[in-house]
Amino acid sequence: MSTIDDLKEAFAGESQANRKYLAYADQAEDDGFPAVARLFRAVAAAETIHAHAHLRAMGGVKNTAENLADAVSGEAHEFAEMYPPMVATAQAEGQKKAVRSMTHALEVEKVHHGLFQQAAAAVKAGQDLGAAVPRICPICGHTVLGDAPDACPVCGCKGAQYVEIA
Ligand SMILES: [Fe+2]
Ligand SMILES: [Fe+2]
Repeated sequence: MSTIDDLKEAFAGESQANRKYLAYADQAEDDGFPAVARLFRAVAAAETIHAHAHLRAMGGVKNTAENLADAVSGEAHEFAEMYPPMVATAQAEGQKKAVRSMTHALEVEKVHHGLFQQAAAAVKAGQDLGAAVPRICPICGHTVLGDAPDACPVCGCKGAQYVEIA
C-alpha cells in the first residue's frame, strides 16, 4: 500500500461513515433519542472534516473548472456504466428496493450530468450560474435549478415536497 492508496481508502471510509451516521441520526430521532441523534450528527460532521482533509492531501480538490469536469465525468460514469448492470442484477435477484433506489439514482445522475455541464459552460465563460435556487426531490434526489415541477419526473412525488438548498 502507498500513501495515496491509503488516502483513497480513508476518504471512502470517512465519507461512508458520514452518510451512515446521518441516517443513524434520523433513526435515533424516530426512536425518541434526540441527544443520541445530535451525537451522530456531530460525529458525522467530524468525519466530513476527516474526509475533506484526506481528499485535499491526495490532491483531489482542484479549481472549479477542473472539479466540474470531474463531476461531469463521474455522473456520466454512474448513469452510463455503473448503474445499468447493477439495476439488471437487482431485477434478476428480485431485490425490489434496490431496483428502486438504483433506478432513481441512475435517472437523477443524468440530470446531475446536465446541470454540471451547464455549470462548466458558465465557468468556462468566466461566469457563475444564475441566481435560481436549487431544489431537490426528497424521495429520489431529482434536482432542479429554480422552481420545482408540478410532479417529480423521476418518482412522481408532488413538487411541493421539493426542498430548497441554500
Ligand atoms: Fe449525481
Ligand atoms: Fe423524485
